[in-house]
Amino acid sequence: MSTSQFDYTAAFARNIGWVTQSEQSILRSKRVAIAGLGGVGGSHLLTLTRLGIGAFTVADFDTFELANFNRQAGATLSNLGRNKTDALLEQALDINPELDLNVFPDGVHDHNATDFLAEADLYLDSLDFFALQARQTMFANCARLDIPAVTAAPMGMGVALLNFLPGGMSFEEYFQLTGHDEEEQLLRFLLGLSPAMLQGTYLVDPTAVRLAEHKGPSTPMACDLCAGVAGTQVLKILLGRGKVISAPRGLHFDAYKNRLVQTWRPGGNRNPLQQLGLKIARRRFSQRLTPLSASEPVKSRDSVGRQILEIARWAPSGDNCQPWRFEITDDNHVVIHGNDTRDHCVYDLRGHASQLSQGILLETIAIAASGHGLQAHILARPGQPDTNPVFDVEFKKNPDIKPDPLLPHVSRRMVQRRPMSTRPINNRERQLLEASVGSDSRVIWLENFRDRLRVARLLSRNGGLRLTLPEAFKTHSSIIQWDSDQSEDRIPAKAVGLDPVTTHLMRWAMGSWNRVNFLNRYMAGTLIPRIELDFLTGIACASHFIIMAKEPARTLDDFVAAGRSVQRFWLTCTRLGLQLQPEMTPLIFHSYVRNNIEFSSNLRSQKLAKKLASQLEDIAAPEKIEHAVFMGRIGSGPTPTARSVRLPLDQLILRN
Ligand SMILES: Cc1cc2nc3c(=O)[nH]c(=O)nc-3n(C[C@H](O)[C@H](O)[C@H](O)COP(=O)(O)O)c2cc1C
Repeated sequence: MSTSQFDYTAAFARNIGWVTQSEQSILRSKRVAIAGLGGVGGSHLLTLTRLGIGAFTVADFDTFELANFNRQAGATLSNLGRNKTDALLEQALDINPELDLNVFPDGVHDHNATDFLAEADLYLDSLDFFALQARQTMFANCARLDIPAVTAAPMGMGVALLNFLPGGMSFEEYFQLTGHDEEEQLLRFLLGLSPAMLQGTYLVDPTAVRLAEHKGPSTPMACDLCAGVAGTQVLKILLGRGKVISAPRGLHFDAYKNRLVQTWRPGGNRNPLQQLGLKIARRRFSQRLTPLSASEPVKSRDSVGRQILEIARWAPSGDNCQPWRFEITDDNHVVIHGNDTRDHCVYDLRGHASQLSQGILLETIAIAASGHGLQAHILARPGQPDTNPVFDVEFKKNPDIKPDPLLPHVSRRMVQRRPMSTRPINNRERQLLEASVGSDSRVIWLENFRDRLRVARLLSRNGGLRLTLPEAFKTHSSIIQWDSDQSEDRIPAKAVGLDPVTTHLMRWAMGSWNRVNFLNRYMAGTLIPRIELDFLTGIACASHFIIMAKEPARTLDDFVAAGRSVQRFWLTCTRLGLQLQPEMTPLIFHSYVRNNIEFSSNLRSQKLAKKLASQLEDIAAPEKIEHAVFMGRIGSGPTPTARSVRLPLDQLILRN
């Protein structure tokens, strides 16, 4: 169809009813300035074009890339690498070829702000969240030129709206950004935009918020909601219709929370409520503001070996001890130097937990290498002691190697220690999980209520043993990081799964063995943690599972091979959106008992372990337990909000 067939009145006739004919003509005569055609700007442009706005001034210096696909109008394969302004104006002109367009392909800056706003009837803010300097410039110029300014910000799965109208409270009066460093400005902007912080409760993976890297998660729904809300403000302001709220009042609609809140913060960020919110936010976000080395993006200029290890270091290990260090010899060869914690950790019986972890790491390396079309050839170096195994990994190009579908899930995989949904796993999930461990392993499921109850009882007794075992005290008190929701080399307290009160009590108790002993003896100290961490979670899951090796695992190679299966199983869970928690300690105590290894100076603990071993054999037959290499529970439900991260790669790499 050619542009000659276009007819403005016919094209936008269906607006009539909600606007009158004469209002439609007014909209046709208006110019809206939109700075930024990214997440929300592109949607704004297309929505307002369909509303019949006749003229736009737009600015953006960016080009489309893959990372824009989840939310940005115009982000398509055919537009990859194209200027956002070119691609979006083409779409807008395809809707209304009569548009009057002014384009600023280098973006907005101090020197062109006045020109950009010249002739504009309204300014619609769509700059990148982190472009605070340009945003301040634009709003200051709008205030100076008496141009109404609208900002609708995508927040989680909702939208937060603020209008700044001529003669009203200004952007700077509301946000109070001047004179603060970038970190503080970002917090002030975030909290000023959404004082109600409705989105704050459902952020399932906090590691995705990387303010220091100017990165944060986003959703397409929020961007579309923004266009709808902002479009309505544009209509009301330009037509002088309806009640228009403006700063210090704002609107926050959250589709996920089913909530709409009208916010009112007289004084803006100076308001005592905001000050309090800022105080809390500073504490909560302090870790996200300093670059999280653990989540540093892979840089393409890094060597391939480094890029692979950057991903592989996300492999899990017992207590997050990361029993490995790396050596990069050349682009095709890395060396893994293993170690174990058997001399001080009662759970690392004969170093088996560390060896499993090393298997998990090696599988992760192979998965990461597949992303480069490389096959990882792994060889355990002969003659090394089991306490310090060495693995040579050589990468070879192989045209048959395609990126492993588990690759995107490596850094997303984590432990969920809180209750999960009891929705049973379905047949597809079961098939994929059973296939994931390979032909040398098998999975047994303990999933009906009776089985889960039996395992919950087992875990509860197991918890009693762990918490009263003098040899475990040192391990427990050294592996928990109390004051953070992320930890590089330990487990953050919040990821343990206790409620805040019990967490505080535990923190106090962990100060000395005498305190633990006192609590255990006189205050039934193990009761609440056992109920909360072991019994309830033992029931609240879809199923417990035991991964069994074809032959009982005895050697380093056996445990490494088992670890490789475990990692494929765990990553498949993540891929399926399922949560997992290992439950390894009953297997470990069982092994101590069946191998007649004295693991404690405390006779009561030894006896308890014997009962535990028999209880486990009642649940799964002794011949099955003999083959067991990994045990845990899985289920659907939310991702944890606190997690162990990892040591930065540079700390894991051995230097001469
Ligand atoms: C071999 C092995 C044994 C583990 N045993 C347990 C366990 O018994 N209970 C538990 O809650 N987590 C266990 N974990 C989970 C680790 O503590 C966890 O993977 C580590 O802290 C890293 O955290 P992330 O998996 O959330 O990244 C185990 C992990 C591995 C690899």
